[in-house]
Amino acid sequence: MEFRRLGNSGLSISEIAYGNWLTHGSQVEEDAAHACVRAALDAGITTFDTADVYARTRAESVLGRALAGQRREGLEIFTKVYFPTGEGPNDRGLGRKHIIESCNASLRRLQTDYVDLYQAHRFDPSVPLEETMTAFADLVRQGKALYIGVSEWTAEQLTRGAELARELSVPLISNQPEYSMLWRVIESQVVPVSEREGIGQIVFSPIAQGVLTGKYLPGQQPPAGSRATDEGGGAKMISRWMRDDVLSAVQRLQPVASDLGLSTAQLAIAWVLQNPNVSAAIVGASRPEQVADNVAASGVELGADVLDRIDEVLGDLVTADPRETRS
Ligand SMILES: NC(=O)c1ccc[n+]([C@@H]2O[C@H](COP(=O)([O-])OP(=O)(O)OC[C@H]3O[C@@H](n4cnc5c(N)ncnc54)[C@H](OP(=O)(O)O)[C@@H]3O)[C@@H](O)[C@H]2O)c1
Repeated sequence: MEFRRLGNSGLSISEIAYGNWLTHGSQVEEDAAHACVRAALDAGITTFDTADVYARTRAESVLGRALAGQRREGLEIFTKVYFPTGEGPNDRGLGRKHIIESCNASLRRLQTDYVDLYQAHRFDPSVPLEETMTAFADLVRQGKALYIGVSEWTAEQLTRGAELARELSVPLISNQPEYSMLWRVIESQVVPVSEREGIGQIVFSPIAQGVLTGKYLPGQQPPAGSRATDEGGGAKMISRWMRDDVLSAVQRLQPVASDLGLSTAQLAIAWVLQNPNVSAAIVGASRPEQVADNVAASGVELGADVLDRIDEVLGDLVTADPRETRS
């Protein structure tokens, strides 16, 4: 496993991170979740990403149990706040009360005194940004969060956040956007601003929720047990990619991968890691074998000819419009 610095901070993270959205506390049983975390640790993954809202807070508890007993200094644990975790008006968003309370609850569930990175899961236009950033700064000063990050902020929101972070001396070091061969909306605006501000991208859904593994075949039923069959929420989330034109193009990526001795999943993960502003690819897994497949993408370099072949195959299926940022 290779490591990268997160933005221009001093924090090193594994360039492939393990995330537990839709899996822990939901799609997969506790023992399968623990087996995936074990496989991740065995493969050299040290960076784990979760959120208060995943599986209505259960995902953090599962991760906390799966990581219990590990040397804390050998792990980077990331979580997030913003989406509703309860029914009340203060159980959501980026107001001071919810940020502080949600962080304390996350720490209890994760069985740790601090998280390495605490992220705003989205931008909250209903709260003054000064209030949000001051609450984050207080968590940093209390030692409950070592660094601060955001997720799916636009270039303009990142610019404003970075300016306040500098004033408050709070280390805003990361953005967590969706990024894959198929979804490139960060490239034209978010990445240049992030480079200027010393912010690194930790990118999610690098294999488009499993679609870029090539396991979904056009015109056929999805394989049993895959996300596309998960009526607990996964099937709905992946549905935007389950189109015959996309699935056919992914089949045409397989020879590109096999010419390099790679699986299609490895090619897709290596592709996001070619972007120097990307600090890590966060990959999910429902089975330990998937983790073993995915980590082999670490350290793979793709030549310009390979990148051109990928662009030719995907053609206008690629989305690159920055207005598509999920802010
Ligand atoms: N900040 C945000 O708003 C946000 C949003 C989404 C995700 N995330 C983060 O990013 C992480 C990853 O996102 P994701 O799970 O959507 O995307 P992903 O990594 O693109 O897809 C993961 C899923 O693909 C399948 N898979 C993985 N490796 C495979 C392999 N080698 N062969 C075949 N199938 C394989 C598994 O599903 P099945 O086995 O069930 O098919 C797995 O759960 C999340 O856990 C979370 O930490 C953040």
